Amino acid sequence: MERRQMLHIPGPTNIPDRILRSLSQPLINHRGPEFEALLSTCVVGLKKVFRTENDILIFPSSGSGALESAIVNLFSPGDTILAACLGVFSDRMAEIGEKHGLNVIRLTMDWGKAVKVEEIEAILNKDQEGKIKAVCLPQNETTTGIGIDIEGVSKMMRRVGHEAILVVDAISSLACVPLETDAWGVDVVISASQKGLMLPPGIGLASVSERAWKRVEQSTMPRWYWDYKAVKKSMTTSQFPYTPATTLLFGLKEALGMLTEEGMEKVWERHQVIGKGVRNAVEAMGLTLFAEKEYASDTVTAILMPENIKYKELAELLRTRYDIVIGGGLQKLQGQIFRIGHMGAIHFMDMYAVMGALEMALVQLGYEVELGTAAAALAKTFIKK
Ligand SMILES: Cc1ncc(COP(=O)(O)O)c(C=O)c1O
Repeated sequence: MERRQMLHIPGPTNIPDRILRSLSQPLINHRGPEFEALLSTCVVGLKKVFRTENDILIFPSSGSGALESAIVNLFSPGDTILAACLGVFSDRMAEIGEKHGLNVIRLTMDWGKAVKVEEIEAILNKDQEGKIKAVCLPQNETTTGIGIDIEGVSKMMRRVGHEAILVVDAISSLACVPLETDAWGVDVVISASQKGLMLPPGIGLASVSERAWKRVEQSTMPRWYWDYKAVKKSMTTSQFPYTPATTLLFGLKEALGMLTEEGMEKVWERHQVIGKGVRNAVEAMGLTLFAEKEYASDTVTAILMPENIKYKELAELLRTRYDIVIGGGLQKLQGQIFRIGHMGAIHFMDMYAVMGALEMALVQLGYEVELGTAAAALAKTFIKK
């Protein structure tokens, strides 16, 4: 029997039918009145999801493109930034900065460990001359399944009175875990369509605070496609400097409608309970979580490969027998861990299927665990709600 694959890589995520249907609408003129209405609805909805009154800029791009947009708009060659490096994606931000001639202070952590507020505070306190122009952090490092305390960092930065702006990669956390852009004072938030927003890849997003706009004014970095000022100006008249991803905006409108109907607090709570359930099931099965537990992400769980089981065999069995797709370890973690994405359009009942299939596949591959262990652990977590 044919059934739909359950996509549990750490993004792109499963797309709900409502959104899939909205993506099949006939195209409209991106310079016509229907587009104006579409774009303004999307911007209003995005502000609710980002929890901000700041400008939100939309790009036809991947998430990495939107990260690069922050670098080329906020800084000038030779500027110094502090970037936490916790995995592939936060390393990427540092690398983009270096490629553009920034002096990047890399705060490198062992993969699986979180960067703590005090560690950033200590570096900022030493920077008496105020050289550091920005602190760049992922809210969620998808490589290792680590969540960073953005609220704590942001509040600390205001408290110590450092002039650096805070730039947050929320690509695998927006619309999943709490993010209060304005209340916490986050200057720039970068995200993308294919994770919490439940869309296909292809839209990059940036929210830009007043303080950040001042940096844009000072920045001498060359840019055209990513030019925040040009995009903002066009978006004020419901246009883009180039052809936007119109079809994805149909989907975005639908996704934002779904998130608003559920309510952001409920969306966050759903991810939090599911994250906890997955971790409880992992531990009950005798598996080992890769990430530091107090900072474990509620959108992706990284798990050490059990001894004598090969990632490729596990992933292949899950895909072919159970129609469930999981992610592997990236770069140096290849073959060492596997990752289960649980973000976006997920219901806790989905995790019964995923964790139950994982348990069956592991048993088939020789792992010793009593069948039903994962389900029991999930039930104990979910039944309380
Ligand atoms: C935290 C984070 N940052 C950046 C990226 C890169 O986004 P993209 O693959 O859309 O360029 C990803 C992708 O998974 C991510 O999870």
